[in-house]
Amino acid sequence: MKPTFYITTPIYYPSGKLHIGNAYTTIFCDALTRYKKLNGFDTYYLTGMDEHGKKVETSAIKNQKSPQDYVDQIAEETQQLWALLGIQYDDFIRTTEKRHKTVVQTFFEKLVEQKDIYLGEYEGHYCIHCESFFTESQLLENNACPDCGRETQKLKEESYFLKLSKYEKKLADYIRANPDFIQPETRRNEVLAFIEQGLNDLSVSRTTFDWGIKVVSNPKHVVYVWLDALTNYISALGYGSEDAKYQKYWLGDEVLHVVGKDILRFHAIYWPIMLMALEIPITFKLYAHGWYLMKDGKMSKSKGGAIYPEVFVERYGLDAFRYYMLRELPFGGDGLFAPDAFLERLNFDLANDLGNLINRTTAMTEQYFKGVVHQKNAPNDFDFDVEKTVVDTIAQYHEAMDAYHPALALAATWRLISRLNKYVDETTPWVLAKADDKAPLENAMYHLLEGLRIVGILLKPIMPSTSESMFKILNVESSSDTFESLIFGHKGSYQEIQRSIALFPRLDIDVELKALNSSLETPPAPVTQPMAPEVSIDDFVKLDLRVGLIKACKKHPDADKLLVSEVDCGEEKTRQIVSGIAQHYTPEQMVGKKVIVVANLKPVKLRGELSEGMLLAGSNEKQLEVVSVDHLNPGDKVK
Ligand code: MSP
Repeated sequence: MKPTFYITTPIYYPSGKLHIGNAYTTIFCDALTRYKKLNGFDTYYLTGMDEHGKKVETSAIKNQKSPQDYVDQIAEETQQLWALLGIQYDDFIRTTEKRHKTVVQTFFEKLVEQKDIYLGEYEGHYCIHCESFFTESQLLENNACPDCGRETQKLKEESYFLKLSKYEKKLADYIRANPDFIQPETRRNEVLAFIEQGLNDLSVSRTTFDWGIKVVSNPKHVVYVWLDALTNYISALGYGSEDAKYQKYWLGDEVLHVVGKDILRFHAIYWPIMLMALEIPITFKLYAHGWYLMKDGKMSKSKGGAIYPEVFVERYGLDAFRYYMLRELPFGGDGLFAPDAFLERLNFDLANDLGNLINRTTAMTEQYFKGVVHQKNAPNDFDFDVEKTVVDTIAQYHEAMDAYHPALALAATWRLISRLNKYVDETTPWVLAKADDKAPLENAMYHLLEGLRIVGILLKPIMPSTSESMFKILNVESSSDTFESLIFGHKGSYQEIQRSIALFPRLDIDVELKALNSSLETPPAPVTQPMAPEVSIDDFVKLDLRVGLIKACKKHPDADKLLVSEVDCGEEKTRQIVSGIAQHYTPEQMVGKKVIVVANLKPVKLRGELSEGMLLAGSNEKQLEVVSVDHLNPGDKVK
């Protein structure tokens, strides 16, 4: 039976469009999964969305959508992005799915019953962005969040608590006894130091909003979003119901959670303690990677200011982007994502080193041997070193990938590529071609072709379509493109080599930099901007649009961005409509306006206030304007 490998990304918040930082984790996991598969593992790759919590609710309101509609849209866009990036995941879990909610509710009740979760009261500063409470002493100046620097809100609420303190020693012992549980080691030390300061019990429910999973025995509480989210790693495997996947993968050979350094604590402390309390085995290892930074600092989904993958993939191809992403970030540390560095890597590593080697080798094979080359016993002084480099590279590559370190695996592969380029200069095939005896020339060409075949195999997990093109060009049959065939000399001869088309054309860096910078400066379209799919007139007439007169308007008691209006739509009673326009209009400015109302929209509650319809407004990056009319009357139909 094949050994199993279960790998997970964090589940992403749908608080905005996903950027290259999120793409990094997902490509990283994709490359490791492909690697393990090639290495004979039965793999299972899970990713998904973390769809509950106040932050998501706030983003939905900002986009004038119900939370469910909003998360549906982002989940779809996210899956489109993963398709664009060639991500081969096995499952996409969303925390709003029933299969997930049931498990979270069962866990919560079990922990309440066994008194690992108890009811108390919480007073503290809450950061909506990080979905975390902080004590006064943890805050930065002006009560700012110590993790993200945003303003926190003071909250006091009844809350359930998870007894972290009870498990603190057991967890520290576990981490000490399992040195490879948290990687890299610096992160492990950070976690141990944090535990040594003593763990406060964790507030694990909220009563101030309701976009979350309800606590069954006390439904005015929703489960804290992190407790909810962490459970995805086993709810997706059918834990507690059809649990064949849980048995196979969670209790299997290798389980890896890949996370960014910012969410280390949740995975290294809360998650294992939850599992300990639930008596579920801790089978996973945790790898915490660093961050891609921009020249001017951090990237943020909700604040804008980020770099998005689409520009790079569309202009330079997917493999160039995957290569850069996995090559540039050092093990566990941060790295800079800079367009000029990206372009230079494209020119030096891909066009010069790899592209040239392929072009020279195939052109010479064609010119000197009409595309047919056999292994020849006509050694030269450089063969041994090339063959040794192949063996060393393969070993270094496996070692690096097994240690979850694709950047090192790529560095090793590029050492082999450089060695092969050097071999061309050393053996000077164009001089050998002048001799009558063609065996030494054929031997040199064979070394280059075999070297390229090996490179093609090593690139499979990271640059899948490049290796596919290389195999087409070299006419490598499928039995010679596997990990088992990573042996110099495995393929005895080459036939019908195609002269290659340039895989990675050399770029004019100045021209590209200008083009890139201007497309990066254009802010990405907000999630509501792309043109929606075509609808028929039958769909359109389903909307009942009416003129409505704003009779009264006030600020929403619990949300800074919302106004609550009383609107006369020509009916017996006025309607209450909540709109996300408070940053653009005062209540006084709204009263007396004749607006356009979507009158047959299903009523929803927005932060506790009923909203019976929606006002039409147009917006762009800078402004928002409510659509209004002058001469029509309340209740008039708009078509
Ligand atoms: N929803 C939580 C995770 C719950 S998992 C049970 C979350 N979501 S997130 O969308 O904010 O972040 C997801 C991942 O993206 C995190 O691992 C985070 O570290 C990673 N990144 C966000 N920005 C990043 C960079 N600039 N660079 C690399 N990774 C980055 O946290």
